[in-house]
Order: sequence, then C-alpha cells, then structure tokens
Amino acid sequence: MLFRAIPRFKPSVSGGELFTVFRQVFNKNAFTDVTLGYFEREFAKYIGVSDAIAVPSARMGLYLALSALPVEKGDEIIVPALTYYSIPAMLSFMGFVPVFVDIDPTTCTLDLEQVERRITSKTKAIIPTHLYGLPVDMRWVMEIAEKHGLLVIEDCAQSCGARFDGMRTGSFGDVGYFTFGPTKPFTTLGGGMITCNDPSVAEKIRHEMSGFPPVSRGAVLKAAVTASAMKTATNRSLFGAFLWPALRAFRLLGKDPIEESFREEVKPISAIPDYFRKKMTSVQGDVGVSQIKRIDDLSELRHRNGMYLLERLQGTQDLIVPSVTEGSEHIFTSFVVQTSDRDYLARELLRRGVDTAKGYMSDCSGLEMFKDYRSECPHTTTAFRNMLHLPVYHTLRVPQLEYIVKTVKKIMDVI
Ligand SMILES: Cc1ncc(COP(=O)(O)O)c(C=O)c1O
Repeated sequence: MLFRAIPRFKPSVSGGELFTVFRQVFNKNAFTDVTLGYFEREFAKYIGVSDAIAVPSARMGLYLALSALPVEKGDEIIVPALTYYSIPAMLSFMGFVPVFVDIDPTTCTLDLEQVERRITSKTKAIIPTHLYGLPVDMRWVMEIAEKHGLLVIEDCAQSCGARFDGMRTGSFGDVGYFTFGPTKPFTTLGGGMITCNDPSVAEKIRHEMSGFPPVSRGAVLKAAVTASAMKTATNRSLFGAFLWPALRAFRLLGKDPIEESFREEVKPISAIPDYFRKKMTSVQGDVGVSQIKRIDDLSELRHRNGMYLLERLQGTQDLIVPSVTEGSEHIFTSFVVQTSDRDYLARELLRRGVDTAKGYMSDCSGLEMFKDYRSECPHTTTAFRNMLHLPVYHTLRVPQLEYIVKTVKKIMDVI
C-alpha cells in the first residue's frame, strides 16, 4: 500500500529556483533591492498587457487597484459568494459594499445570469474570480460591464496563465490581480502582481507603493524553507512512509494538520498592518522570471491530468465533477469534486492512500462578518459543504491517476 500513497499537492517551485534564493543568503542586496523591472516586463508580456506591477499580495493588489480606480466609498462591487474571504473583507474595510452573487453549481464561478439581476445604480465594479484555474466567460462579463458602465477587476489568484478565447486571464478587465505564495502553481515565494492596460493606473499604483519597504530577508527565506520542506514531505516514498500514516492518525481525531497549518484566521480587516505593505525583492523577481519560462509546461501537465480525471469520473453516482466551459482553457489549479458525504469520501480515500483537501474558500455570504451583506446563495452553500480537492498536480502520472479514478469509483459505488 505504501507505494500507492499520493499526496494532495506538490509545490511548483524547482530545486534550481530554491537554490537561486539560498545561494544569495549572505548577499544582503538581493533581499533589499526592489528593482523588478525585468520581471514585471516579462510578466506583462506573458499576460499580454501594457503594464504589470509587483505588489505584496492579491488582497493588497485589490486595495491598490481600488485606490487607483475611479470608485468611491459606498459603491457596490459584485463578487462571487464562493471566494477567498480576504477579498470581500478588503472591500468592506475600504468602505465598499460587497454584493454576493451565487455561483453556477458546476463551474463554481459567478452565475452570470444572476450578475445582471443584481446590478443597481450604485454598482461600480465586478470581480470575476477565475476559481480553481477555470476562466470565467470574459466575453459575457465584458459585454455586461460595457452595457452598464462597470469596471472589471479580475481575480487571477488561481488562474495565472489560463486563457479564455486565446487571451490570458488578467488581460481583459481594467485590472487583474495575482498572488504568488509558496503553494501556488506560479510562485515567487510571496508577493503578487497587478496587470492592466492603462499606464496612468499603473503609475498611481507605483506611486502609492513608493514608501513601502522591502519584504524582510527572513520572510523570503522562511517561504523558501517551507517550500523545500513541502517538496521533501511530498516526495512519494517519504510521504508514504511518514506523512501518510501521520495524516491517517490525525484523521481519526477529526484533524487535518496540513490544512490547519496553512489556514488563515477568517476575520474582518480592521487596518492594513505594516507587514501587508512590503515590496517584493529582486531575488523573488529572479524566481518569477524562471517560473515564467516553465509555467505553460506545468499548466499543460495539470490540464492533461485534470481532463483525464474529468473524463473518467464523469457519471460516477453522487459525484459532480468540474465542467469546462466553451472558450475556457482550464488549467486545473485544483480539481474539485462535489459529493453529499464529502467527509466519508475523504476518509476512505485517505485510508486507501489518496490524500485530499477541503480547500480554503468560504461561503462568504454566510459568514458572520458579512451579515450586513447577506444574500441567498444556495449553490455556494451546497458546494462549500460538498467540495473535495483531488490530487491533480503536474508530477502525477497515468498509473496514479488511474488509481485515483478506480478508488473514487469503488468508494462511491458502495455508498
Ligand atoms: C481566489 C483568491 N483570491 C484572493 C486570494 C488572496 O490572496 P493573498 O493571500 O495573496 O491576498 C486568494 C488566496 O489564495 C485566492 O485563492
């Protein structure tokens, strides 16, 4: 059984990229220099926009973008109810009104029919979130935005490199924001990016960030050490011998230490702390430049793995598999299935050597901190309760995928 144990994920950062960081450890300049022009230009070229600005994180990207765009406190901004809590939390902190719209139950992205019904005279922007690597139908979003005079802010935190109608996410709207943490398919060991096609918006964002100090060397090294540890722990032999038995033992206690160690406390943003206001450093830019060269290959491998799982799991009883919409190129940042007894499926899969995760999205409309903005989002509530992330990462090969399919089917057929 040991040889079959399959970890839930695998970091995308390469040994060479980690070496780039570690070999600079005594070169103080590499960690204080915030010159990122080359990385930003390469990223802008990759996405297909005029400007890319390195920012501290996705939520700070949103903050900086909204500070630069023509919006005012009290404006309504449409967001999917199924998203990362920090996005509506940032809207609320800045004085905007997050308007939660339900998801389409099979794509898990904005239900576009509902978006139009929720637009009022106060609506100023819409945030299409390209969740799990699936681009939203941007033809439709841009049409609606034009018709109602809305700004479009693309959430590309999970869709770096994904295309809709041949164009990359982050190149359609007024701005797009990205996040590059150590667990992301595109990583610079922290930080993020804003993309846009308006140099004056880019200039305002750069100006707003001009006083930000560089992120500390300790923070970058900590992210590099974390990524190295994740690479080691998810090595298949080590995972099977050590982590998998430990995860099984924790599961008996109803605990998932991996998810718990990465989970951020879900709470309102009451101030922008100093550690949010940091600039990425040139050593991270070097990692980013290297990642740009590899990202399409990694996405292609995940796409192939995702399609393999999707085609073979389709039709399994009580299992909703992800759908791929016309024009969208799904890069399967995650492969998320839905089933009425998610805990049972997770438990049985783990027992048979397949590690899974519940993920860290929230049913934001149902969160206490957003009680003033609550709206009926039944598909989000159901999906949130039923979602399970299966392994789909770039290093999985056919025998492992076949094992995942066979095991899921065996478990579901006896439910
Ligand atoms: C869809 C989505 N939006 C926004 C964020 C927030 O990113 P950050 O932690 O960089 O602010 C995340 C985090 O992963 C995310 O998945």
